[in-house]
Amino acid sequence: AEVGLIIPAAGMGTRLGSELPKALHAIGGTTVLAHALRAGVGSGTVSSIVIAAPSRWETRIHEQLEYELPDTVEARVVEGGERRQDSVRRAMDALPGNIDIVLVHDAARCLTPPALFGDVVSAVAGGHDAVVPGLPVVDTLREVDDRGVVVRTPDRTVLRAVQTPQGFRREVLEDAYRAAAPDEPATDDASLVERTGHQVHIVPGHSEAFKVTHPLDVLLAEALLARRAS
Ligand code: C5P
Repeated sequence: AEVGLIIPAAGMGTRLGSELPKALHAIGGTTVLAHALRAGVGSGTVSSIVIAAPSRWETRIHEQLEYELPDTVEARVVEGGERRQDSVRRAMDALPGNIDIVLVHDAARCLTPPALFGDVVSAVAGGHDAVVPGLPVVDTLREVDDRGVVVRTPDRTVLRAVQTPQGFRREVLEDAYRAAAPDEPATDDASLVERTGHQVHIVPGHSEAFKVTHPLDVLLAEALLARRAS
C-alpha cells in the first residue's frame, strides 16, 4: 500500500508563547516540524507528505523540507485553514492519486517514535478502516456544566487519551470529511470517521508521542532529546 502523511502544522502556538508559529519553534536546535518530519520519514512507511502551513509562512515551512527529506519521499506544502480540520481538509485535497492509506500526524507531536507510525500503518493494512493510538488516562476526568459544576465522572478505566499518527483507508477519511458539517468542530480526524459509522480501532500509544502545547512540554521534549542523544 502507498502511504501518504498529512502534517497539520498551521497552528500559531499561542499557548507556547512563541514569536514564531509552533512548527518553526526550535527544540534542541531543530524545529518542531523538522523533528516531526524525521519521525515520519524515519518510519520508512511514507511515500508522500503534505504539510498544512500557517498562512504567509509557506516559504519558511518549505525550506524545512530541503533538509529533512530523502529523494524517495515527495512533499507538498498547502496553506492551512482556520481550524485544524480545515487544514487537514486542504492537505487531503493535495494528496497524490496513488495514495491508499492516509496518516494524519500533528506537527506538535514532534518526538513520536517512528515505530508508532509503523504500528498504525500495519493495523490499517491489516484491515482496519481507522486506527488511533491511545493511552490509558492518568487523571480522573470530570464533565462540568458551564458554571463549572460537576455533572458526571466517567469511569477512567474505559477512557483513552488519543494521539497521532491516526491512520485511515483513504476513502474512509475522505468520506468522513465530505460528510462533516462545516460548523461541527472536531479536534481529531477519527471523531469525524466515527460519525460516519465506521469503527475506530485503538492501538497502544506511546508516552513520547505527547503534544508540545505548553512551555512545560518544551522542557520535557528537551530532556527527552538529551536522553536520546546520550
Ligand atoms: O491546536 P491543537 O493543539 O489541537 O493543534 C494540533 C495540530 O494541528 C498542531 O500541529 C497545529 O499546528 C495544527 N493546526 C493546524 N491548523 C489549525 C490549527 C491547528 O494545522 N488551524
